[in-house]
Amino acid sequence: MDYTAILAEIADECRPLARSGRVADYIAPLAAVGLGPFGMALRTVEGEEFSVGDAAVPFSIQSIAKVLGLAHAMELVGDDIWSRVGREPSGTPFNSLVQLETERGIPRNPMINAGALVVVDATLAAAPSNGDHLLAFVRRAADDETLGYDLAVAEAERETAHGNRALAHLLKAYGVLQGDPDAVIDAYCRMCSLSMSCAELCRAFTFLARAGLSPSGARVVSPRHAKRINAVMLTCGVYDEAGDFAYRVGLPAKSGVGGGIVAVLPGVFVATVWSPGLGPKGNSLAGTMALELLTTKTGASIF
Ligand code: DON
Repeated sequence: MDYTAILAEIADECRPLARSGRVADYIAPLAAVGLGPFGMALRTVEGEEFSVGDAAVPFSIQSIAKVLGLAHAMELVGDDIWSRVGREPSGTPFNSLVQLETERGIPRNPMINAGALVVVDATLAAAPSNGDHLLAFVRRAADDETLGYDLAVAEAERETAHGNRALAHLLKAYGVLQGDPDAVIDAYCRMCSLSMSCAELCRAFTFLARAGLSPSGARVVSPRHAKRINAVMLTCGVYDEAGDFAYRVGLPAKSGVGGGIVAVLPGVFVATVWSPGLGPKGNSLAGTMALELLTTKTGASIF
């Protein structure tokens, strides 16, 4: 299928909304990007690539990186990860800590910040590194050795990560976090600072549309892990907007406060959109609309 015309239509319909919403102002370099950019890319499992607008512009992927971190952790520690984090939707904001107190410190899922911190902690215990182990995994998933962190973004977030430090120390107090909370925060901020374009993200997430295989056919994760990660994205990937997103879009997806959203139709394609204007729940307004138009115009959703 040629998606060129559909992406062009979607971009035209979404560009007005790209000037709405709020950028993530608590991480200075993200606030500097401003409202207005709109890019969208789609990559089929056969390797055809389509794009429109600012699809080649790199941006901070932020919580989208949590999916790559989870895939990496599952490869390192297998199902043991699920003894320390759940896989249920939270129904709370991504940075909430309220459920930790009522649920003995076990985060509802690995997509909320508390859960992602536990995943990072498990990864550091299994592969102590300065982030090179994760980066090698991400580069292998994308078949792209040029991908990297934006350490200026990582440093900017570290300086203001008071809420996440509170989460990390509370997790430590419950004995759920086993490593040094500040080392986990450092690794988490570095992970979230991964910088990619829409087109690069489509390649990096291809393994989730290809039952674990990268664009070149290299094994990234097992088919079982790919299935499970897609399921967690469907139920938890856009936090307390998961129900509305499933209703409107109907794809497993993961958002980031940099304004990106990656969506997967297993066996068919990966679609990525970038527009920094966020809604009240931290998901891109124009990005969500673009993905809703994609699945509506093509009829290609999991439903
Ligand atoms: O921890 C934070 O606040 C950011 N590094 C990531 C949050 C995020 O992307 C939420 N997703 N929409």
